[in-house]
Amino acid sequence: MSHAINPLDDPAADPFEIAAQAADDIARLTGVPRHDIALTLGSGWGKSAELVGETTASFPATEVTGFSAPALEGHVGTLRSVLTPRGKRVLVIGARTHFYEGHGPRRVVHSVRTAAATGARTMVLTNGAGGIRHTWKPGTPVLISDHINLTGASPLEGATFIDLTDLYSMRLRDLARSIDPSLDEGVYCQFRGPQYETPAEVQMAKIIGGHIVGMSTALEAIAARQAGMEVLGMSLITNMAAGIQTTPLSHQEVIEAGREAEPVISSLLARVIGAM
Ligand code: HPA
Repeated sequence: MSHAINPLDDPAADPFEIAAQAADDIARLTGVPRHDIALTLGSGWGKSAELVGETTASFPATEVTGFSAPALEGHVGTLRSVLTPRGKRVLVIGARTHFYEGHGPRRVVHSVRTAAATGARTMVLTNGAGGIRHTWKPGTPVLISDHINLTGASPLEGATFIDLTDLYSMRLRDLARSIDPSLDEGVYCQFRGPQYETPAEVQMAKIIGGHIVGMSTALEAIAARQAGMEVLGMSLITNMAAGIQTTPLSHQEVIEAGREAEPVISSLLARVIGAM
């Protein structure tokens, strides 16, 4: 169901109850009672939706309780159910709510909680991001090995002490490397955005142990772990982070780098998911 007012914006609402309703909507819209894997598409990763398998249902995310219209070009507001050749059901989420939209963490992680409520035990989070390592040219896919959450926010409410050791599953990173041994990995720093980082902020991220800068994923990964899911995170380096590259950053550049790299990284991701 679409809602003029998002039910998650009611502070008295239970976000897990709303996620359960959303999962019911998805079961009805797809005719698929349970999904095994969920995949959130960031910029540059869109083509993997077609390569993962056969799409058996596709509909606007706004048909599902709690989802909002996409705020951004390059982000497709579509949900799909895809059947892999090995018979796994993948819920492909082409609709991401970013923290910088200002609707709060509940809205940001609703797709993850919904995916968990559909039965998915594996959460694959992809994004387009800035690279700090000089060896990562735009177009390079990188595994996320860990994150630093610089948003100051959390999807967890109250005394919810969740362990984040091995949040980005070593098993799934190894699986990805078995498909492409050249895959590098790094620590993802989630900034609030929407402004890109200053060069000084990128230097800070580097000094505290970061290799990738972006505006998504960390909050979603936390919610996925809370839901007991195994997480695989992958960044497409769309640009060298501010100050690493000397030219100004632009959203257009990010979109174009994504478009160019899309066929290669999407087929890589499809093979990784196919091996799950
Ligand atoms: N910083 C933050 N987010 C991004 C970047 C970046 O350099 N590139 C793409 N998304």
